[in-house]
Amino acid sequence: MDKFVIRGGNPLVGTVRVSGAKNSALPCMAAAILTEDEITLENLPHVRDINTERKLLSSMGAEIWVDDTKPDRVKICCRTLSDPVAKYEIVKTMRASSLVLGPLIARAGVARVAMPGGCAIGGRPIDLHIRGLEKMGAVITQEHGYLEARVERLLGAHLVFDKITVTGTEDLLMAAVLAEGETLMENCAREPEVADLAALLIAMGAKIEGAGTSTMRVQGVSSLHGARYRINPDRIEAGTFLIAGAITGGDLTVADCNPAHMSAVINKLQEAGARVDVFGTDAVRVRGGGQLRAADISTEEYPGFPTDMQAQYMALATQAEGVSLVEENIFENRFMHVQELARMGANIKVEGRTATVRGPAKLSAAAVMCSDLRASASLVLAALVADGESILDRVYHMDRGYERIEEKLAGVGAQIYRMGNVFPTREDEKTAIE
Ligand code: EPZ
Repeated sequence: MDKFVIRGGNPLVGTVRVSGAKNSALPCMAAAILTEDEITLENLPHVRDINTERKLLSSMGAEIWVDDTKPDRVKICCRTLSDPVAKYEIVKTMRASSLVLGPLIARAGVARVAMPGGCAIGGRPIDLHIRGLEKMGAVITQEHGYLEARVERLLGAHLVFDKITVTGTEDLLMAAVLAEGETLMENCAREPEVADLAALLIAMGAKIEGAGTSTMRVQGVSSLHGARYRINPDRIEAGTFLIAGAITGGDLTVADCNPAHMSAVINKLQEAGARVDVFGTDAVRVRGGGQLRAADISTEEYPGFPTDMQAQYMALATQAEGVSLVEENIFENRFMHVQELARMGANIKVEGRTATVRGPAKLSAAAVMCSDLRASASLVLAALVADGESILDRVYHMDRGYERIEEKLAGVGAQIYRMGNVFPTREDEKTAIE
């Protein structure tokens, strides 16, 4: 089991480069199911969840090639889907596997997808995905932990989401693009990752209006063709690095990012006393050093403060002068990092959906346990300022969504290294798939 060893105290100085967005790559990879042609995706991050999605697609019959000359480029061809089943062994390791449900039904008229089950941060139901597909004519039954879906051809419908759901919006958008007639989708998620998927679908020949807004109108087409598409930068990885620069009192430039997708986080860091400057359309510079000030956050759907940045922000709040209220409105159990931060000396009290953080607290290094992807990031950030050497266990959670984060952080002055099996190299991974 991999561990990180981190010695705190070094300000991070220099430039760190952001990888492609995991949460764009996952739906875009699933979109390959919608055509018999090959699609090429560029700027894919080298992270565990992408590997999982590749295994899932391969298990259904997809052909996948990693480009030797450019390892962040993947070609996917789903000409033959010999086994349109998302098996539990894979789905249980990644909830986003449910993203193949809509494309499979739209392409093949049949799908068998294991129910994802919950995860560390909550129940993660997919009732809104199912309700939308049923409204489009799919007959969906549940047995033995699997969803079975059948339909001659999906029919366009008027879909209104009871709750804003990112992958629900993506799943049903992929269903709608091959449905007969028009689909009007209201109360959609507006996350940039949804717009990324829509841009790929349009490049494949889909007819979509309103991508990235809360209302999308889709004219179904009879088939889609191949395309090449470059995934947007990961706004959550970028935000995590901004907090790393602020919490260590460093001077860090986060490059290859998209500042336009990061306004809520940039504004909050400025409110907390960090100096944050945007450079053009692909870089943000953060300078810490002064006393950080307490500032409250309340997580909201995009463009509000992202739930995926809540744990990272809480680590920063432990170092801010005063009382910061951290309210988590999206998931019911996304405070798993609190206990571990408290073991390092943080002063945090949780009542329902709100954590009260009193600072500044002097953090001391400790052996801590990662519980989920973003909680892991929070512990890394705390360890970067804690006094002494921390050991973070179960960093495989981190590897799900951060590409070689220990190398990127060490490259700007962090004292961090990975203990145990090194995360598979691109070569290892390529041979694992081919
Ligand atoms: C996506 O998850 C992201 N994952 C999550 O990122 C992110 O935290 C989340 O959106 C919110 O922004 C991917 O894109 C792969 P939701 P998703 O459906 O789509 C409820 C990370 O750290 N809900 O928007 O699964 C749900 O329980 C991950 O990178 C229903 O009730 O989240 C939650 O309370 C973690 N029924 C709320 O909606 C449904 O059918 C928002 O969930 C679907 C969702």
